[in-house]
Amino acid sequence: MAEFPRNDMATAQDWLRHAVAADAAGDVAVAEQGFLQALLLDAALVDARFGLGVTYFRSARYREAALELRAVMAAGSADAATGILLGKSLYLTGEFPESAKAFELALTSMPLQGDSLRCYARAKTYATMIAGNIADALADYPALAGAEAEPIETVIRDGFGLLSAYGHRDAAAALGQLLITENPDDVVQRHLNDAVAGRAIDHVPASYVEAHFDAFANGFDDKLVNVLGYRVPEQMAELVSRHRTAFDHVLDLGCGTGLAGAHLRPLAGELTGVDLSARMLEQARRRDVYDALTHAEALTHLAAHAATFDLVFAADTLIYFGRLDAVMAAVAEAMTPGGIFAASVETSMHDFEIMPSGRFAHADAYVMRLAEPYFELLERQATDIRLEANTPAKGALFVWRRR
Ligand SMILES: C[S@@+](CC[C@H](N)C(=O)[O-])C[C@H]1O[C@@H](n2cnc3c(N)ncnc32)[C@H](O)[C@@H]1O
Repeated sequence: MAEFPRNDMATAQDWLRHAVAADAAGDVAVAEQGFLQALLLDAALVDARFGLGVTYFRSARYREAALELRAVMAAGSADAATGILLGKSLYLTGEFPESAKAFELALTSMPLQGDSLRCYARAKTYATMIAGNIADALADYPALAGAEAEPIETVIRDGFGLLSAYGHRDAAAALGQLLITENPDDVVQRHLNDAVAGRAIDHVPASYVEAHFDAFANGFDDKLVNVLGYRVPEQMAELVSRHRTAFDHVLDLGCGTGLAGAHLRPLAGELTGVDLSARMLEQARRRDVYDALTHAEALTHLAAHAATFDLVFAADTLIYFGRLDAVMAAVAEAMTPGGIFAASVETSMHDFEIMPSGRFAHADAYVMRLAEPYFELLERQATDIRLEANTPAKGALFVWRRR
């Protein structure tokens, strides 16, 4: 690693050399600081700006990467590598038309291959779809991608997810229509089509929850924790323990793979979990921390356990309920007086709103109004629930006491 430039005489070039060495050694944080210091001393040092763009890209900060790489372009010193990296950054922030343009700039000096060609062909295809030409986009895709062409079904399915996540609802809806026509019994696609179309629905169908989470169960922990930065179970358990640290009967409502299990175990006499997905429950069972795990619908399970639990813990579960009146009443009925109810929600400006992801977001005021008849609010904490389309999904954790 290059000597750290310590004295006040260090030049922009010194910092640049230091940053490049740190980057080569894989020390991303030091490289970032070095590039920033170099730019502080010389804002026109294009190599430092490009280096910073690469560093941001490597840290999955694609918006910031695109900003730096655009500045390199604007300085008139962009090469094919800048165009390709900018194209990838813009693809990963859902800016498909701009991504295609950046790749096309690189194409003027060299042919694209491998994942750059795959990314370009998708960006161009999705850009054409956003412009409203679905049939043209699909017809042009094989020639665009050449040897790197993926199965068209994959391009359509991923396109549906990406276009809806990044707010291109019309294009996503058109792809959703193609997918459901191909497979009319696909309950997951049917719900996602309703969500993208913004249809007036007030709950997520149980058939969707079951099919979606059964299919997702194997990769759930890795995706949520390592890719999307999901920390709600530990954050919410910590919040609960500020108010009370010992419970006789704990219910993990929509326990999924049991990410909350290890955090609830020290607080719980008996720890039980309930979930609609058998595959998610299989994963939870492997953790060996629950006393019982039940395959059932949440409201049905609550109704069968009147005045039983002194902690009900719902991490990322209310997002599958739009209207909250029935679930609030059911939780209250299943709790003992003075018990604690903890729940997370994603935040919305509306009482409740179905999002293109197929989940619901809720307004704080709505959540608190519906809880009020049964629960006294002990604490509310704003948090980022997880990444959604590479951006933190804003949400809140609530802790209530049963009246
Ligand atoms: C996003 S996961 C969260 C899992 C877990 N609570 C966690 O924090 O990791 C949502 C879970 O809620 C379950 N779920 C959603 N709606 C449900 C319902 N009505 N009844 C039972 N489980 C439900 C799903 O099957 C899924 O496992």
